[in-house]
Amino acid sequence: MLKTRITELFGIKYPVFQGAMLWLSPAELAASVSNAGGLGIIASSSYLTADDFRREIRRAKDLTDKPFAVNVSLLPSRRAIPNEDYIRVAGQEGVKIIETSGRSPESYIPLLRESRAILMHKAARIRDLQKAERLGFDAVTIVGHEAGGHPGMDDTSTIVLVRQAAAAVKIPVIAGAALRTDRAWWRRWRWVPGPSRWARASCCAASARFIPLSRTLSCGTARRRLSLCSSPTGTAPGCLKQRTP
Ligand SMILES: Cc1cc2nc3c(=O)[nH]c(=O)nc-3n(C[C@H](O)[C@H](O)[C@H](O)COP(=O)(O)O)c2cc1C
Repeated sequence: MLKTRITELFGIKYPVFQGAMLWLSPAELAASVSNAGGLGIIASSSYLTADDFRREIRRAKDLTDKPFAVNVSLLPSRRAIPNEDYIRVAGQEGVKIIETSGRSPESYIPLLRESRAILMHKAARIRDLQKAERLGFDAVTIVGHEAGGHPGMDDTSTIVLVRQAAAAVKIPVIAGAALRTDRAWWRRWRWVPGPSRWARASCCAASARFIPLSRTLSCGTARRRLSLCSSPTGTAPGCLKQRTP
């Protein structure tokens, strides 16, 4: 059993998160990871309406009695995403952990507080993590430029950022991005809990690494998309680096 500030805070067995992936992290994947002792995260922006999202949360609750999280991406989008409704739904459904990402979550704070969930924010810059800490978030994830999705514009790697993040905030830090090979995972796992751990992160998050697991799951559209964008090595080259201008 690996004990870190994150395993304690979230009530999970291992300090490993499955990072949210638009279209690719439905209830089945999140529940599988949570059942295995990590933290599964459902990407709310994969659902067209708040009702669809509610149904997905209920499916996850049927599939696991372990904690899982939902991700609310605040990135600008061509389609209007009802993020306020998603946060309300997560609160009503008793989701224990909500993660925001993509933009400052400041204007959503009252709603997020109402949900009574544990709050985490994911960003690619240290100053954004510090702001999240000031806003009262419970944990933060830092992702380097290797991250899939929207990795930020500073071209700084995970290995540099994690160390800086752990020194810059007092709340627990989750290290994300480029932890996808088995070898890197093994190293991070050893670093994470050790007293003289290299990066002083309390947890690691990986997304693309979980895509092969998703392949074995029956999850409709997500599964079809997986076959388009995943490779046998577990990375998702077709999906990486959708940069925010
Ligand atoms: C296909 C794909 C979709 C993603 N969608 C989201 C998303 O909807 N919200 C979000 O916060 N992060 C999203 N991410 C970022 C991941 O959650 C995570 O931060 C990052 O991919 C970690 O890097 P790794 O894939 O190298 O492990 C996505 C990543 C990928 C590869």
